[in-house]
Amino acid sequence: MAEFTAGYFVGSLSSKSINRILSKALIRLAPPELGMVEIPFKDLPLYNRDLDGSFPPVAEEFKAAIAKVDAVLFITPEYNRSIPGALKNAIDWASRPYGKNAFSRKPSAIIGASTGKIGTAVGQQHLKSILSFCNSPQMNAIEAYIQFLPGLITDDGHVTDESTEKFLQTYMTEFHAFIGRVYTVLPRTA
Ligand code: FNR
Repeated sequence: MAEFTAGYFVGSLSSKSINRILSKALIRLAPPELGMVEIPFKDLPLYNRDLDGSFPPVAEEFKAAIAKVDAVLFITPEYNRSIPGALKNAIDWASRPYGKNAFSRKPSAIIGASTGKIGTAVGQQHLKSILSFCNSPQMNAIEAYIQFLPGLITDDGHVTDESTEKFLQTYMTEFHAFIGRVYTVLPRTA
């Protein structure tokens, strides 16, 4: 039985997403104490603060899904040295209305795959800044910038390179430990 459940966001909407493939590997390599559920966001409309107080059902469901999990994991590409617009839109929905920010005190971690050599490093820095403002305690180490070379992970999430597999497994073990540490110092109030 899982001790914690993490909701994961796949930052890409593409059906061929390498970050979705990475998510499959991470689910396989997570320790049994860490359950993983996807938090989908592709059906969210563009955020508009005129709707604060009367969110559409899709946004209410999205926020409820975040409220249900103990932590969140962002598995995202870098777009133009930042995060994809669809992911930023989802974060904006989650953070509002004022006073009902779904990420406040919610532990988070970031990982990303790119075809480029720096493996989403710049995009991740932007996301860290956003999550800081959203008051999410973030796992600072270990960092994970994955250059996705063809065949690195099979479509069903098997990692073909032994050192990468070990690294991803360690990453998930560290994420689980980090969630435990956050709740030790920041007990849930509600
Ligand atoms: C990219 N790509 C990219 N790669 C990178 O390392 N840094 C970047 O800033 C960008 N910018 C960028 C913008 C846009 C609009 C696209 C479509 C792509 C390339 C990117 O790493 C590659 O397409 C990945 O496959 C995207 O991840 P998913 O969608 O496959 O998960």
